[in-house]
Amino acid sequence: MAAYTTQTITPRYHQALLGWQVKNFPELDFLERNWTKFFASQTPFQLFAKIGNLSTESIGQGKFAGQPRFERAGDMVGNMFYAARDIIRAQCSTELASIQQHRLTLEEAPTDPMKVAVLRVMAEELRHAYQMFWVLDHDPSWKKPGHPDIASETLDELLAMELGSHVLDAFNIPFKNFLDNVVFATVIDLVGKYQLEMQKVFAYAPMARSMSPMLSEEGFHIGSGRTFLRELAIGATTGAGRFSIDDIQKTINAWYPRGLEMFGNERGGETNVQFSFKDRTNGTAQGEYIQEVHDVIETTNVSIVQTRVKNISAQEARAIVREGSRFDDLLFVPDAKFFRRRGPAEIVMQPYDLKGNLMPISSSQYIDYLAKVLPDRYRATDEFRRYSEQLLGGQAMAGRYGW
Ligand SMILES: [Fe+2]
Ligand SMILES: [Fe+2]
Repeated sequence: MAAYTTQTITPRYHQALLGWQVKNFPELDFLERNWTKFFASQTPFQLFAKIGNLSTESIGQGKFAGQPRFERAGDMVGNMFYAARDIIRAQCSTELASIQQHRLTLEEAPTDPMKVAVLRVMAEELRHAYQMFWVLDHDPSWKKPGHPDIASETLDELLAMELGSHVLDAFNIPFKNFLDNVVFATVIDLVGKYQLEMQKVFAYAPMARSMSPMLSEEGFHIGSGRTFLRELAIGATTGAGRFSIDDIQKTINAWYPRGLEMFGNERGGETNVQFSFKDRTNGTAQGEYIQEVHDVIETTNVSIVQTRVKNISAQEARAIVREGSRFDDLLFVPDAKFFRRRGPAEIVMQPYDLKGNLMPISSSQYIDYLAKVLPDRYRATDEFRRYSEQLLGGQAMAGRYGW
């Protein structure tokens, strides 16, 4: 028995999202026609909301601990109402943006299984967007007397977002080659997993009920990213692949800082815990994420060493990776202070190198340094141009960030 029930949204927004899909993701038709060929053991894709179970009926933490969860958005007062809307909006923006990003380089997939996996990831992100539409659309109390219709205002805004106008920085960066698809699924979808995990405690019950079904789909995204990262790293090691280890490393250098920033300021997040929107503060979640990214990269390095040294066990290979000096072309995780645009004041827009050392250099020299450690293609993006302008102008990014 499925651990969820399903619902559809009102025809107005159902049709609007289908229209969005025709424009941004026409390949869905191909995937649906061939679903059973590629994913025989998986229930065919369907665009609906999956309503899962709550982990606990009542709120377990913060200001409202012990009370039942909110079934109606309108019962959340003041800041809490808008803060909930902001999280749902940010979540939905990531789902729509990632489809727009993956599609840019979909045709460059080195293998058919990689391409088909990315298509499934895109389809599931579309369902996640549909899920967030359901959260806002099914509950008439998002429209409060005397307030604008927050639900339709937010849904219309989301439908109009393009790369460049999405909520979070990581989702405004266009993909330039297939390494972006793979590293994004490994590093950025992993942040998504943390957010969904944390939001199981969400005080607004419809949001909390949405998390478990989304999490089980997210597992496929992260798993695909890790599998393909390993395959590309092995290809780079044997010389058979299209990408070098240096290419892969530079791609990690570009995405990982943006992943760290998706948690919001590492000293913040207390309000979300008080409202029971999340079960951990930003810094706690980010710390766990950093550890998990290190584990993923170590496992990838184990595969690289096993490719280079024949007949070696995973355990022996791991010992070599940890010892750290025998091979120079392994992957590594940059320090969390490297290339930060947002975060605590002492690290934002500061010239930290990949190892976390503050370099005694000017802003323009730091841009030269970044040119050496980031992909050429990334430096050509608007996001990087904006970063450079801010760095040279001595400005920090304004406003809240993260979700
Ligand atoms: Fe998603
Ligand atoms: Fe995902």
